[in-house]
Amino acid sequence: MKKYLPFALLLAFPFTDALAQDKKIEKKIDSVLKLMTLDEKIGQLNQYTGGDATGPITNNPNKLKDIKEGKLGSLLNVKGAAETRKVQEAAMQSRMKIPLLFGLDVIHGYRVTFPIPLAEAASWDLAEMENAARVAARETAASGVHWTFAPMVDIARDPRWGRVMEGAGEDTYLGSQIAKARVHGFQGKGLGNLDAIMACAKHFAAYGAAIAGRDYNAVDMSEHTLWETYLPPFKAALDAGAATFMNSFNTLNGIPATGNTYLQRDILKGKWKYTGFVVSDWGSIGEMINHGYAKNKSEAAELAIKAGSDMDMESRSYLPSLAKLVQDKKVSVALIDDAVRRILRKKFELGLFDDPYRFSNVEREKKELNSAENRAASLKMAEKSIVLLKNEKQTLPLSKDLKKIAVIGPLAKSEKDMQGFWSIAWENDKLVSLYEGLKNKVGDKTELLYAKGCGISDSSKTGFAEAVEVAKQADVVIIAAGETLDMSGEAKSKTNIHIPGVQEDLIKAIQATGKPVVVLLMAGRPLIFNWTADNVPAIMYTWWLGSEAGNAMANVLFGDYNPAGKLPMTFPRSEGQIPLYYNYLSTGRPSNSDKDRNYKSAYLDSPNSPRFAFGHGLSYTTFDYSALSLSKTQLTMNDKINVSFTLKNTGKYDGEEVVQLYLQDKFASVVRPVKELKDFQKVSLKAGEAKNISFTIDKEKLSFYNQQLKWGAEAGDFKLMIGTASDKIKLEKDFTLTN
Ligand code: GLC
Repeated sequence: MKKYLPFALLLAFPFTDALAQDKKIEKKIDSVLKLMTLDEKIGQLNQYTGGDATGPITNNPNKLKDIKEGKLGSLLNVKGAAETRKVQEAAMQSRMKIPLLFGLDVIHGYRVTFPIPLAEAASWDLAEMENAARVAARETAASGVHWTFAPMVDIARDPRWGRVMEGAGEDTYLGSQIAKARVHGFQGKGLGNLDAIMACAKHFAAYGAAIAGRDYNAVDMSEHTLWETYLPPFKAALDAGAATFMNSFNTLNGIPATGNTYLQRDILKGKWKYTGFVVSDWGSIGEMINHGYAKNKSEAAELAIKAGSDMDMESRSYLPSLAKLVQDKKVSVALIDDAVRRILRKKFELGLFDDPYRFSNVEREKKELNSAENRAASLKMAEKSIVLLKNEKQTLPLSKDLKKIAVIGPLAKSEKDMQGFWSIAWENDKLVSLYEGLKNKVGDKTELLYAKGCGISDSSKTGFAEAVEVAKQADVVIIAAGETLDMSGEAKSKTNIHIPGVQEDLIKAIQATGKPVVVLLMAGRPLIFNWTADNVPAIMYTWWLGSEAGNAMANVLFGDYNPAGKLPMTFPRSEGQIPLYYNYLSTGRPSNSDKDRNYKSAYLDSPNSPRFAFGHGLSYTTFDYSALSLSKTQLTMNDKINVSFTLKNTGKYDGEEVVQLYLQDKFASVVRPVKELKDFQKVSLKAGEAKNISFTIDKEKLSFYNQQLKWGAEAGDFKLMIGTASDKIKLEKDFTLTN
C-alpha cells in the first residue's frame, strides 16, 4: 500500500493494527515530532471551517494555500468522499504530509436523520441509541469524515435553554448510560476500522447550567454540584473511550472553560488521565477577550494552551500567536508538543498516516448513504422515542376502520421540521411528514382531510373556521402543533416556552367540536401546554423524529407499535417553576402536596409539582408491579442486596415498560435528593405475561460526594422505590447500610 510519509519515515514502521500498537504509535509520533518545525507543530493545533458562503473549500484558495503550507491540522464542515479527498490532496502537498482530520456535527444522523438526541433519550433504549449512533458513524465514515462533535452530554434542567434538544435530559445516571452508548455507537469496534469515527464528549463542562437558561451565559455552582451532577456523564464518555473532548463557551465559577486549568488539566488530563485531545468550541479561545479574561488574542492563546485546550476551532488565536509566545518564553515547546502528540495519536489510530484517503471512497459512500437498512433503523428509533403523555376514553390506538380522519395544524404536512436542529440538510432526501405517514398507513381505506388552521407563531386565527369545518366532517381529529426546527437548538433560548403563536387556541377550537382529538406535540424541548393537558383526551410528545417521522407517528397512532417512551426531562407548569427537576432536595419545610403551602417551600400561585414528571410515559396496555422482595434489609459495605419483583402486563396489548429504580439516602453528611434514579430496565411483555425483574443494590449505588468531595457511601437508612415514573412509585421498601 502506498505510503505518504517523508522518505525518512518511509522506512518507518509498517502501519498495522493501531489499537494493539500503542507503543509503536508513540515511537511514530516521536519520529514525526522530531522532523516538525515549530510552525508545523502550531499548524496541527489549528482548525478552520471548510465550506462557507463561497461554497466548498476547494473554491477557497486561501484555505487551500494554508493547508499546503501546513498551517492546518483539521477542518470541520467538509464532507463527501470526493470533497474530502480533494482537500486531503492539498495536505499531501505540505512538507510533512500530515493528513488532516475532518470533523462534523453529526448530532443525530448523517444522511438519514434520526430523532433529536433528547427524543432518543426518551426511549431509554440504550441498545437502540447505540445502533442509531452506529448507523450515523457508518454513513459519516463512508463520506470521508473522521470525527463527530457528539455526544453532547451536558445535563440540562432548564428547558428555556434551547440546547436541551441535543442532550439526554436532566438525570445524571440516565445521561451517563446514554453517553456510554453513544460513544460506543460512534466508535464501534475502535478507531482504525473504516466504519468508526471519533466521538467528542461535549461541552466540557456544565454548559447546561447557563444562568437563566440563556445560552452562552455564565455558570456558577458549587464544586459539589459539579462533581455530583454535571461531571459524571463526561467520565462515562471517557471510560467508554471517547477519542476527543470539546470544551464549552461558558465560564465556570468565573473562569472560562476554555482557559480553565482545573477542568482541563487537573480533572480531565490529570485525575482522569485522559490521553485524547480537547478541541475548543467554535471561537471560544478568542471569546475569552469578551469574557474579560484575556486582553487580546495572544493572551487568550497563552491562557488556553496552558489550560489544556489542544486545538483552536476557528478563533484563529493559536496560529498567529503561539510561535511568538514560545520565543518570548511565555509558553514552553513541551506544552505545544503535548497538544500535537495528542492530535497525531488520533491520526495514527485512524490509520490516516498509512492512507490519508482511506475514508474518502466514493463507491462505499454510494452504497452506505440513505440505505433502506439505515432508514429502517431511523424508523425504529423514532417509534421508541415517542412518549404517550395522556390517553383517556381509549382514544388511542386509532381503529383502522375509521372512515375520515382530519389532520390539522401547522406541522401536519411539514417535512423540513421533522429534521430538527443540527441536522445535516439534504435537499433531495425524503423526510416523511405526519400527513404522508398517515397516508402511507391508511392508503385508500380512510379519507384524510386536512387544514393548516394557523401558523406556527403568528397571531392570525383566520384559518380556524376552515379547520373547525374540516374537523366536524371527521371521525377523529389529529392536531400537529409545536415548534419549527429553528425554535430549539443552539442560541435558541426562550423566556416563554408555551406552544408558540395561537396554536393552543386552535386546539381549543377543535376540541369544542366535540370530536375525539389527539394532539401530537413536535418540539425540541419541553413545552408548556396546560389547557391542552387538562382538556384534550390524548396527547403524544413526538419531538422531532427525523427521516421517518410520519411513518413512526402513524405506526404508534394505529397501535402497530405500542408506545413505551418515558420523559428524560421534567415538564413544568410554568416558566416560573424553572429549574424544576425530580431529584430535588427536601428542604427544612417540605411541601408534601400541591395544597400544602402554608409556610412551606412552595409558591402562592402554583403547585410545586410538574405538569409531567421525569420518567412519565404511558402505554396502550397496563402493567402491574407486585411481590417486591429484598434478599436482606441490612447491608454491609462490601455486600449487596438482590431486589426482585413481579411485573405483569395486565392489558390487551403486548408492550414494553421502563421500570425505574430510585433510592433515597434518608440522612447523610450532605443532604441527599428525595430520590435518585439508580437503575432501570426496559422490559417487553406480551399481553397477560408476567416476569420476575431483578436489580442489585451495592455500595456504589449508595455512594455520593461528601463535603470533602470524597466519593463513598455512609451507613444509614435508605428507601428503595420502584416506579413507572419518578412520581408514580409502585413498590417501596426501607433498608439499612451498616459499616
Ligand atoms: C457550535 C457548538 C458546538 C459545535 C461547534 C461546531 O458553536 O457549540 O456544539 O460542535 O460549534 O459546529
